[in-house]
Amino acid sequence: MPSLVAPAIPAGSLAVTGHPTLPVGDDALLRPWLLTDAAAVREAFRDPEIQRRHVRRADSVAEAEGWIAAWQAEWEAGAGAHWALVEAGSDALLGRVSLKSFDLQDGTTELAYWTVPAARGRGLCTRAVRVVTRWAMDGWGFHRIELEHATDNHASCRVADKAGFEAEGIRRSAWLEADGRHDAHLHARVRPGT
Ligand SMILES: CC(C)(COP(=O)(O)OP(=O)(O)OC[C@H]1O[C@@H](n2cnc3c(N)ncnc32)[C@H](O)[C@@H]1OP(=O)(O)O)[C@@H](O)C(=O)NCCC(=O)NCCS
Repeated sequence: MPSLVAPAIPAGSLAVTGHPTLPVGDDALLRPWLLTDAAAVREAFRDPEIQRRHVRRADSVAEAEGWIAAWQAEWEAGAGAHWALVEAGSDALLGRVSLKSFDLQDGTTELAYWTVPAARGRGLCTRAVRVVTRWAMDGWGFHRIELEHATDNHASCRVADKAGFEAEGIRRSAWLEADGRHDAHLHARVRPGT
């Protein structure tokens, strides 16, 4: 059945380009994940704050490698873009920023992130979110990017506000996590002028 609406982003157009590396100021980079990042991902998940916000544990470097392989496969499939946030020069892992669940027809996607404890509180996550948002909206024509956090995750709410993701409401009891159900606070950024 023919569609009445042309896709916001032509199917397959992202995957035929290489996964980009994006500078985040002078001190950090967003680069594609490498399997050799697995030990650093496993280490990041030893942080109780990161673990608290995720439903899966990384019990071994091999499991973390499996996640990274899945993130890489999403780019190849045109389904998402997952970046390692690393220190410029040393390449030390500082965090993760991801665009998930690409809907190329509607031009929508969902943002997710974490930073390692030593990198927090200096605006790094917010800067990285702004860079990825510009790449997706100005570079590719994504129209709407959603971001959700548990209502008690005030640092994440602050990142969303600072990066221009307006609060849109609360999805009650939306997430089942290890410590029970959580309300999810929905933020979104819509491409200006469209
Ligand atoms: C949320 C997270 C990614 C923020 O990373 P970050 O690099 O510290 O972010 P930024 O420095 O850009 O901004 C953090 C903001 O939150 C504020 N903040 C930190 N802890 C806070 C708290 N407990 N209550 C209120 N605000 C808090 C900081 O003061 C800062 O705001 P400011 O610039 O107005 O001072 C990081 O804390 C993290 O990885 N947490 C664990 C995993 C997680 O929650 N991921 C998000 C899931 S939705």
